[in-house]
Amino acid sequence: MRLLLISGSLRRDSHNSALLRAAAETLPPGWEPVVYDGLAGLPHYSEDIDGDAAPDPVAELRRAIAEADALLVATPEYNASIPGALKNALDWASRPFDENPMRGKPAAVIGASTGIFGAVWAQAEVRKVLAHVGARVLDVELPVGTADEAFDEAGRLHETELHERLAGVVRALVDQAPVPAGAA
Ligand code: FNR
Repeated sequence: MRLLLISGSLRRDSHNSALLRAAAETLPPGWEPVVYDGLAGLPHYSEDIDGDAAPDPVAELRRAIAEADALLVATPEYNASIPGALKNALDWASRPFDENPMRGKPAAVIGASTGIFGAVWAQAEVRKVLAHVGARVLDVELPVGTADEAFDEAGRLHETELHERLAGVVRALVDQAPVPAGAA
């Protein structure tokens, strides 16, 4: 079973990418974390270049989502909303709308920001977009505020309660994923 991890940040030392790595550490046996790292290579969305012959990075994004059993998105908040690069990726992944690979896919959204609110507005907006395109979005959030102080050197969240909440989000997400036929 595959959990696709999508960080909404292009920053090398991104707190959101760190949050996804911490989340991956809590996956149960039988689950593999798959990091999507193609965000920076996606062109800006245009219907002129979408269609059967979509650009290779777009095809790779759609394939990665289609092959995943669940999605976990960690979003920064830019000016009280979704960072443009992440919104662009979600727009590409949402077409063709009726058969988009997020449709029916279990998904959860978490987020980190250096402010005190932990990207709650961005998380809410990502959940809204995912629900709009037909994903099965968990009604949970994980706001990691003052993110520059939130992780220890091992990449684990300092606060035990926050770490437990993160593990709870991952648990709830994998519980939503359909068990393949024949598995116990
Ligand atoms: C921010 N940041 C920010 N933080 C926040 O809590 N609310 C906000 O509205 C914004 N707006 C904002 C806009 C822009 C353009 C930047 C560059 C930053 C700060 C943001 O939380 C911080 O840079 C995080 O560290 C970004 O996440 P990553 O890159 O560490 O994952």
